Amino acid sequence: MRILLCGGAGYIGAHAYVVLAERGQDVVIADNFSNSSPGVLARLQRITGEPVPFHPLDLRDRGAVVDFFARQPFDAVVHFAALKSVGESCERPLDYFHNNITGTLNLLYGMQAAGVKRLVFSSSATVYGDPASVPVREDASLQVTNPYGRTKLVMEELIGDLCGSDAGFHAANLRYFNPVGAHASGLIGEDPAGIPNNLMPYICQVAVGRRERLSIYGGDYPTPDGTGVRDYIHVMDLARAHADALDYLVHERHNLTVNLGTGQGVSVLQLVNAFADASARDIPYQIVERRPGDVAAVYADPSLANRLLGWQAELGVEAMCRDAWRWQAQNPQGYPAA
Ligand code: NAD
Ligand code: UD1
Repeated sequence: MRILLCGGAGYIGAHAYVVLAERGQDVVIADNFSNSSPGVLARLQRITGEPVPFHPLDLRDRGAVVDFFARQPFDAVVHFAALKSVGESCERPLDYFHNNITGTLNLLYGMQAAGVKRLVFSSSATVYGDPASVPVREDASLQVTNPYGRTKLVMEELIGDLCGSDAGFHAANLRYFNPVGAHASGLIGEDPAGIPNNLMPYICQVAVGRRERLSIYGGDYPTPDGTGVRDYIHVMDLARAHADALDYLVHERHNLTVNLGTGQGVSVLQLVNAFADASARDIPYQIVERRPGDVAAVYADPSLANRLLGWQAELGVEAMCRDAWRWQAQNPQGYPAA
């Protein structure tokens, strides 16, 4: 199949590129580099041994998107392209609505005009908001607590309505829990711009000496050690699920909404300790106030993905920390400037 990875230069897209290329798919990346670096393309070429087909494209430009699809034939699209910072979305909600929602609408227009009828969409556990119980199943009630979450929910709904209007259009909503880790080569990994918002990249930057100490947001949650519990999933396990979802769309011709997590809750302190072991570095930390909007514990029931896709996470916290550390140690400042 010829597959377009929209936003494929980003953290998860780059890892999915490797898995799909290894499975013999013909993969093309389109991105506007708003949150990624052109340097990733040379790294992908080193991993796969082949030049990486790349096209600059900004999903906010509908004319450019429709024109792009008119010139390039695709069998499927994987849609990673979005802005993803919760805090920033609260400060600049309109930019998030425009980039994520209008961008998705433009992508769907382009696909429809060109007759491309398979879509894998990067959704998020954020659509569950503060879930009433854990582990969270896909039929849990959906609620959003911030503009980023709203964009994910609206994008799922837009895609669902398009599936409803065209029985030949099939989509997979993949609800990622907390992706971490990196490709085992250490050549690609997570490279956040500015101060990391998320836990694992912050720990990595403390370990490599870019930040002094980690602030742990809250030590008084009703969890075994008082710190927040999440479902961290290795990005290579996550990447594999995209290839499995594409196979599902081709062979089963059904729509799909699944959680992608390990099903294991891991606390902040457990992750910090596992990382310290994997890196043989101290991770200085202080426990501070809770971060507004955070919840005590969120982890997935991933059994539906297992039943429908035959997929399950294989890599544990040790591998997540080891691989994240290899990437950070080899690339202390992230990707080199292009
Ligand atoms: P990322 O920012 O590393 O990758 C997103 C890519 O999309 C970037 O390369 C960016 O330049 C590109 N992009 C953004 N807007 C674009 C536009 N208008 N036109 C073209 N390209 C555009 O993020 P990621 O961590 O790889 O996440 C990928 C997807 O998964 C996102 O949709 C994100 O919301 C979702 N997700 C991520 C996480 C996570 O923790 N990383 C968790 C749940 C869901
Ligand atoms: C965050 C987003 C969520 C998004 C997910 C993956 C918020 C409120 N939620 O989820 O929408 O889908 O990222 O991108 O931002 N922590 C610290 N210190 C830090 C950073 C984090 O203690 O410096 C703690 C948090 O309180 C939490 C855990 O680590 O308990 C994980 O945090 P994070 O990596 O930001 O992910 P989420 O909050 O789960």
